[in-house]
Amino acid sequence: MPRFSPARPTLTNAGRAALAADPDNQGSLGLAISEAVEEAAGDPGTCYTLGSVLNHVLLHQTVIGLEAKKAFDKIGLYPDVIFGPCGGGSSFGGIAFPFLADKAAGDKRAANLRCVAVEPTSCPTLTKGAYAYDYGDVSGCHADHAHIPSVTTSCHRDPRRWLALPRRFAARFAVVAWQVATFEAGVQFARAEGIIPAPESCHGIRAAIDEALRCKVTGEAKTILFNLTGHGHFDMASYDRFLSGKLEDYEYPAEAIAESLKHCPRLIERLKVLVFLLVLANLLLYAFVEGYFGRPENPDAWRIEQQLAADRLRIVGRSKTPPAKGATEQPAEPEELCLLWDRLAGAQANELASTLAEKFSGVRVERRAVAAEGAGWWVLVPPQASKAEADKKVGELKELGVDDLFVVHDTGAYRFAISLGVFANERGGQERLAELKAKGVKSAKLIPRTGKDPQFTVEARGPLAKKTEILEHATGIVPKSTALNCK
Ligand SMILES: Cc1ncc(COP(=O)(O)O)c(C=O)c1O
Repeated sequence: MPRFSPARPTLTNAGRAALAADPDNQGSLGLAISEAVEEAAGDPGTCYTLGSVLNHVLLHQTVIGLEAKKAFDKIGLYPDVIFGPCGGGSSFGGIAFPFLADKAAGDKRAANLRCVAVEPTSCPTLTKGAYAYDYGDVSGCHADHAHIPSVTTSCHRDPRRWLALPRRFAARFAVVAWQVATFEAGVQFARAEGIIPAPESCHGIRAAIDEALRCKVTGEAKTILFNLTGHGHFDMASYDRFLSGKLEDYEYPAEAIAESLKHCPRLIERLKVLVFLLVLANLLLYAFVEGYFGRPENPDAWRIEQQLAADRLRIVGRSKTPPAKGATEQPAEPEELCLLWDRLAGAQANELASTLAEKFSGVRVERRAVAAEGAGWWVLVPPQASKAEADKKVGELKELGVDDLFVVHDTGAYRFAISLGVFANERGGQERLAELKAKGVKSAKLIPRTGKDPQFTVEARGPLAKKTEILEHATGIVPKSTALNCK
């Protein structure tokens, strides 16, 4: 069973040492980590898992970004910019990484995505300082040894250098927020949303509000995502200082940064020696393999002598059985042709598909609608005959446990359809459909939202020998579209 004592600082060696050095020590994240490690190391029944500061934390924090992506999928949107407060870096990594993974995978929606870490001017780890290794706790060697800023929020008490990112990175992806302005944003948010944000969260909120105000001026439309990392119920003292005008802007002084960097462990020097030795070892190995240290005339000569009938070896596919001894090799199966015409208007696609199907009997032709870019996929129960029918259907769906729906009332082809979700990609739609089927909903369908100008693809598969003839016919019908090879 975990034990808790308000007098904890005097119960651990780390706490006692900190108080001996400074009786007014307010504590810090580094000190808390030291105490927790000391407790866990000294008691076989205690385990300690870090919730911030170390790199592995970013793995479980990505649940934030993954959930945000699901929510965006549901409403058919994608963020243009993501703001998150950054102290130890865990929540920011958690919200940004799943979206950055999209960007790395070439997802077009993320092509211009910006992920911006927002940190306080009072304890910068990205926009100031150096990219250096440091211990996460005060028992090792940490900036907290040297300095504990006397400002208000828990974040401000810990200059966490060890997760600092290189300056080049920071200059592009990190911004600072001043203390008073962040609390202004926090109060504005609380009044608008009824949620009192944690002071750390206020940094992300500040940047999101500023971005929205910028868009207002430039007339840009942007989807802005920010990370509300926690509530501020235990930060009333800070809000009180802000509201009574006692809170002041504070910038962590350059001299204090320089002083705390002196206490960093000298790992970089050791790493440099290690890297030098590794490079040297690799060079020596390369020289040895290349024969710079001398070698026999032909080192493989004895192997060649051992080989039996090497010229009769054949490489065959995994699934193919090698021909029986004495049998002649079978001719390879004729290759299949697959041609695809992309982004065709409806009339063109119809004409191309019907002409190919008519003229080439051995060729299979398929015409498919494609979701227009940004329009997404729609899960729906097809339009009902009347509002009464649609309401009846809604009742049936609710009985099956489906509440997340609405009836389309617009005039048009989908009047009285029942919408069960709009998704940015087909996979999201299929997952929703499977979920509905599992609940017993049989009438739901997934269709591409084709927008105002629906587009189509036409795919033709058949014997390769027909290729030239098919292309000739196609060029006559869709002269501007080039056929792509498909599989
Ligand atoms: C509510 C809240 N948000 C954000 C942070 C910043 O930490 P991190 O950058 O590791 O998410 C903290 C740190 O104490 C916090 O308490």
